Amino acid sequence: MTPAFDDSPVRPDVESDSEVAFEGALRPKSLEEFVGQRKVRGQLQLLLDAAAMQNRTPDHILLAGPPGLGKTTLAMIVAHESGRPLRLTSGPAIQHAGDLAAVLSSLVPGEVLFIDEIHRMARSAEEMLYLAMEDFRIDIMVGKGAGATSIPLDLAPFTLVGATTRSGLLPNPLRDRFGFTAHLEFYETDELVRVLHRAADMLGVRIDEESLGEIASRSRGTPRIANRLLRRVRDYALVAGTGATLEAVRAALLLYDVDELGLDRLDRAVMSIILERFDGGPVGLNTLAVSVGEEAETIEAVVEPFLVRIGLLSRTPRGRIATKAGWAHFGFSRNADVLFGDDL
Ligand SMILES: Nc1ncnc2c1ncn2[C@@H]1O[C@H](COP(=O)(O)OP(=O)(O)OP(=O)(O)O)[C@@H](O)[C@H]1O
Ligand SMILES: [Mg+2]
Repeated sequence: MTPAFDDSPVRPDVESDSEVAFEGALRPKSLEEFVGQRKVRGQLQLLLDAAAMQNRTPDHILLAGPPGLGKTTLAMIVAHESGRPLRLTSGPAIQHAGDLAAVLSSLVPGEVLFIDEIHRMARSAEEMLYLAMEDFRIDIMVGKGAGATSIPLDLAPFTLVGATTRSGLLPNPLRDRFGFTAHLEFYETDELVRVLHRAADMLGVRIDEESLGEIASRSRGTPRIANRLLRRVRDYALVAGTGATLEAVRAALLLYDVDELGLDRLDRAVMSIILERFDGGPVGLNTLAVSVGEEAETIEAVVEPFLVRIGLLSRTPRGRIATKAGWAHFGFSRNADVLFGDDL
């Protein structure tokens, strides 16, 4: 049995302790330093500026998107830029309405409350949150059975920042109570080069533009992965005594099974099941999850968005289907031509 806390859709190799410390050190502290996501940055800036001019707490914000694109980082930036304290918690830690009541009732005025993986909160807590978000008030139940009464409790005004890799799982009443939902997109290669430049400077790694471009183009459009690959390249260069050259980058990425599109072991496992066992699909999500031995949620939130974005996979109502590019990338060019014609 897996407890609710342990099965968040994060790749198991991502979150060792030193990895967490490393991520923390590299987090941009301001919207200005935050690379890419121009639209979202502009939207957030406006929201914060307007709140500051009116001397009120900023509206509640929902951050949605695949892992590693900057949701936690943005939550910290919201607190930092508006000069407010930040409280961090997560959906899996809120298993009862009482857990949420304890957090809400201890907030100081203006505090930013960050709830990570907010779609995993207990249903009873969600209902409490509706009222809290709207009226800064909760009803606390005292006693049990016929003698139970509810006592209203006023809260300090706060800004809720929710993060989710699965915005589709949020109930509408909750989604509607956010003043703004930011949908984070995968990053372009040139944006990841900028992320890497900053990280290389901070880590003291000397590396040229071309090598950074190579890492960036193989980072699944994800800053977290870019930073992590940079660290592997640094290790490789250190041990091999070569410096972080383009050859060192290629050798390190080969060693860590990162292919030229940035696909990793799990991405490839998913594609190979669809192509080889199911003749290109359609395959249902649950069948796919069982076949690769992963949670359906991980496949859906972590693996598929990128495969869809780079055009190797499409999601249809009947199931997942490999595209022509999907067949071709895995060396089945003949199947690709037979199935889709050779006019692409
Ligand atoms: N726009 C960005 N510019 C620079 N660095 C970034 C950016 N976005 C993310 N990062 C870096 O990537 C790492 C991961 O970001 P973050 O933890 O905010 O992702 P997340 O969306 O919260 O992921 P998860 O869904 O797994 O919680 C951080 O170390 C952060 O420094
Ligand atoms: Mg996060």
